[in-house]
Amino acid sequence: MKIIILNGSPKGDVSVTMQYVHFIGKKFPQHELKIIDISRRIKAIEKDDKDFRGIIDEIRSADGVLWAFPLYFLLVHSHYKRFIELISERGAEDVFKDKYTAALSTSIKFYDHTAHNYINAICDDLEMKYLGSFSAEMYDLLEEKERRKLVLFAQSFFSAIQNNIPTPKNFQPVVHSDFDYLPGTVEAKVDPRSRKVLILTDTGDDRTNLGRMIDQFSRVFSNPVEVINLNDLDIKGGCLGCIQCGYDNRCVYEGKDGYIDFYNGKVKTADILVFTGAIKDRYLSSIWKTYFDRSFFTGHAPSLIGKQVGFIISGPLRQIPNLRQILEAQVQTQHANCVGFVTDEYGDSSAVDGLLRSLAERLVQSADNGYVSPPTFLGVGGSKIFRDAIWGKLRFPFRADYLAYKKLRVFDFPQKDYKSRLRNVTMLLLSKIPRFRKEVNKRMKQEMIKPIQNVARAKLG
Ligand SMILES: Cc1cc2nc3c(=O)[nH]c(=O)nc-3n(C[C@H](O)[C@H](O)[C@H](O)COP(=O)(O)O)c2cc1C
Repeated sequence: MKIIILNGSPKGDVSVTMQYVHFIGKKFPQHELKIIDISRRIKAIEKDDKDFRGIIDEIRSADGVLWAFPLYFLLVHSHYKRFIELISERGAEDVFKDKYTAALSTSIKFYDHTAHNYINAICDDLEMKYLGSFSAEMYDLLEEKERRKLVLFAQSFFSAIQNNIPTPKNFQPVVHSDFDYLPGTVEAKVDPRSRKVLILTDTGDDRTNLGRMIDQFSRVFSNPVEVINLNDLDIKGGCLGCIQCGYDNRCVYEGKDGYIDFYNGKVKTADILVFTGAIKDRYLSSIWKTYFDRSFFTGHAPSLIGKQVGFIISGPLRQIPNLRQILEAQVQTQHANCVGFVTDEYGDSSAVDGLLRSLAERLVQSADNGYVSPPTFLGVGGSKIFRDAIWGKLRFPFRADYLAYKKLRVFDFPQKDYKSRLRNVTMLLLSKIPRFRKEVNKRMKQEMIKPIQNVARAKLG
């Protein structure tokens, strides 16, 4: 069989992910695995329609397609995202219809599930026959047990195609509304006082719902707020994945384009950040993805601590909880405060007006109070994955992160908690005595609330 491998790594064949593909190729020499570099060559693919058509022809003649990609900012690389946009922009969807497919990723397993959800949903939208996903940790290939899993995954992929098995759809199609948002007049204004408000967008078109929402939102403030269109920035390209920034947060693009100065000078100095965009397929646009990918030069350490963040989204966000999760997780792992989302899904302009105004008020109020809501699993779980990685395997090359984490006291492993360790040892030993354990069980509920009870019941001072 002929299988097309859509390579999502910007590093082409010098890619961790491609080593997994080569391994499969070695194990199954009876099948042809044809690798096509997508992320590394996106500029040429986008510029030259013949190049794009060549890829589409290869897919047409294949028995299956494997989406093989590294994780980039909870999704795929911006160039891979751009390729997915090109499929619909250039009307090539029919080639993917009914084609068997699967996904293979490598990552440090930080939000690998959101990237796989995304690719699965894209496959469902393209009416492909999705057979499942394989999410490998970068160096799983070194483990016999993991290699066996990969072989079994590939085997079941090939045999499913040969046996023409039926496949389920896992995601509902997204329905877009044709609601036209018509902003009303703005009465009382919101005073941002000394707070610096920065609105980032990927549209300059004020005839779109998004353009109108941005305009209305800006007018709610009594002082002018800054709006920056990502398309107007001097961004030479997407993240190269070279990790040279790991040592001292210096990106190879430094001095070559305007992204780093923009991020340090505008994004990091704002008090209130409002990210605005229109939903494209199951995410925002690829230019937004480029913005996030390129921010990697700041490393895994949070660079937006304490900032207030709002989102204004045009499109069916409520139908894509995966996207909402990605955006919320990004804010939480930055130790920033996700104040809220406003979308144009309500079909009622005055409702949107009200929500925009309320978002502005809440952003300023949270900034005044210095409020950052406690992170949920999205932030806690994500931060622990980073913490362990930077402490261990990734300390080199991510030296800058290691130093930043030490300063921020991120290495808060429980082994340093000597009080708990002593208590655990004592209690576990004593618990071997049946009478003691009986007594502990009797008092368990009461003892659980004991440390916080005094605070909860203390008289207000
Ligand atoms: C800019 C950038 C963003 C990344 N984002 C994620 C991420 O969100 N989650 C994750 O688990 N790994 C992330 N990684 C790690 C890569 O996915 C991982 O190193 C992968 O194995 C690289 O594969 P490749 O060599 O095929 O490109 C990121 C790496 C880079 C350079």
